[in-house]
Amino acid sequence: MSKIKRFGVSISEDLLKEFDAFINKKGYPTRSKAIEDVFRETLKRESIRTGKKGTGAIILVYDHHKRELVSKLIDIQHNFHNLVICNQHIHLDHYNCMEIIVIKGTYKQMKELADKLQSAKGVKHGSLNIAEAH
Ligand code: NI
Repeated sequence: MSKIKRFGVSISEDLLKEFDAFINKKGYPTRSKAIEDVFRETLKRESIRTGKKGTGAIILVYDHHKRELVSKLIDIQHNFHNLVICNQHIHLDHYNCMEIIVIKGTYKQMKELADKLQSAKGVKHGSLNIAEAH
């Protein structure tokens, strides 16, 4: 672990109040820990954006009665087979299915796949969460 360095920050009172309420809600023990996480998250996103590879998960919710949609989602994933690590299918209720697709690649590749899946007609929810850079 590297040496701890202290530094002063000037920030608007309103923004600090909002941030403190946020970290309090999240249960952070200290402001320093919360700020460290913000720094790490920002640097991680930047390294992924600039071409380093990362890992992520796409979450989709859709109506499984739309058979054409199900086969379209499978076709799209096959077109990006080198990105897809695995996927899990959950039958949420009588109509809705959730699919969690674990992927790896550059940010650009992962975003392209997520956009294609999310924009398929009939997808009710779609999100991409980048988990880590490596
Ligand atoms: Ni299902």
